[in-house]
Amino acid sequence: MTGDITFSMIKPGAVGNGFIGPILDKITSAGFTIVALRMTQMTRSEAEAFYYVHKERPFFTELVEFMVGGPIVAVVLKKENAVEDFRTLIGATNPEEAAEGTIRKMYAESLGHNAIHGSDSDDNAKREVSFHFSTRKIFYNCSK
Ligand code: RTP
Ligand code: MG
Repeated sequence: MTGDITFSMIKPGAVGNGFIGPILDKITSAGFTIVALRMTQMTRSEAEAFYYVHKERPFFTELVEFMVGGPIVAVVLKKENAVEDFRTLIGATNPEEAAEGTIRKMYAESLGHNAIHGSDSDDNAKREVSFHFSTRKIFYNCSK
């Protein structure tokens, strides 16, 4: 049994290129309901904490640098089988390998300057939702 909640961030490059609207449209058109939304700029320590799992990876510094470079849009999304369906919608991490019509294929600049984040498990979705939103700012009862 999988959960019905996932977490996403539209990353600074896509925000800066004016893609908030088109990306949110693709997300809702695919059947996801937005139950929380916030535009913010992450501090360096927040970005390091959010991507802590990658701290030993060679791309960690580049990733943190990119994520603090401008505002992001954080969203909590509801749909049956949310985590897996959202990963399918955004496509492979490397936009060059992402399927046609996926968000990363359409809007990512490169592997390092990716357009969007999506939780990779129900447990991580829970952790990431609570990292960005207090419970009273999530509107689980939204239906559309
Ligand atoms: P995300 O966490 O952002 O949704 O991306 P993901 O699960 O598809 O990929 P992940 O392995 O978690 O990597 C996190 C972000 O790090 C950047 N990355 N750069 N230069 C590289 O080899 C490399 N590999 C990953 C990507 O921007 C990816 O979104
Ligand atoms: Mg990831």
